[in-house]
Amino acid sequence: MTAAHGAGGPEAPETVAVSDITRDPLVGQVLVPERELRTRIREIGEAISVDYAEKPLVLIGILRGSVMFMADLLRSVSIPVSVDFLAISSYVGRDSSGVVRLLKDLDHPIAGKDVLLVEDIIDTGLTLSYVLRVLRTRGPESVSVCTLLNKPRSRLIDQPLKYVGFEVPDEFVVGYGLDFNQRYRNLPYIAVLKPE
Ligand code: IMP
Repeated sequence: MTAAHGAGGPEAPETVAVSDITRDPLVGQVLVPERELRTRIREIGEAISVDYAEKPLVLIGILRGSVMFMADLLRSVSIPVSVDFLAISSYVGRDSSGVVRLLKDLDHPIAGKDVLLVEDIIDTGLTLSYVLRVLRTRGPESVSVCTLLNKPRSRLIDQPLKYVGFEVPDEFVVGYGLDFNQRYRNLPYIAVLKPE
């Protein structure tokens, strides 16, 4: 394919403005590079495939932060699974409002099924505890948690976590699905968001 040139012809090519999210001045230290994400997610997928072999497993993702993790995790799970999503809202900017709202419910019943909740990050644990409470009212056989990131130092409510990708320090992180005001989800790695 050839590039289109401006009126100036090949001698005067148009300048193309490139906006690269990885060069955003607020994107700080890379905490988890792409390669480490790939390796760890493959390990978790293999563990899930062993632990839930022969069981009707439903993976439930929390929109929107878990989409990248869910997509890559799914590719690493080799047993038959079904997938559903919940949407909730709790964060404005960098701080949890403490109020969790269910914006989108599951599309399918989970009664009698083994459920694995797929989360991007557990911080205070408030969101997780709300979602677990909602799911347990639906009569699943079991509900466990798989989180890509864990910030144990900010925890207010503790819940058992069956699979954890990485422990991260108590800093606001972005990338690989995690956002700050809807930005930075498309960074291919996890990085610290610098203070503004
Ligand atoms: P918690 O209720 O405080 O545990 O927060 C859980 C949710 O808050 C996660 O699913 C994220 O969507 C969001 N969150 C918590 N910490 C961060 C962060 O460091 N970066 C981006 N989102 C975060």
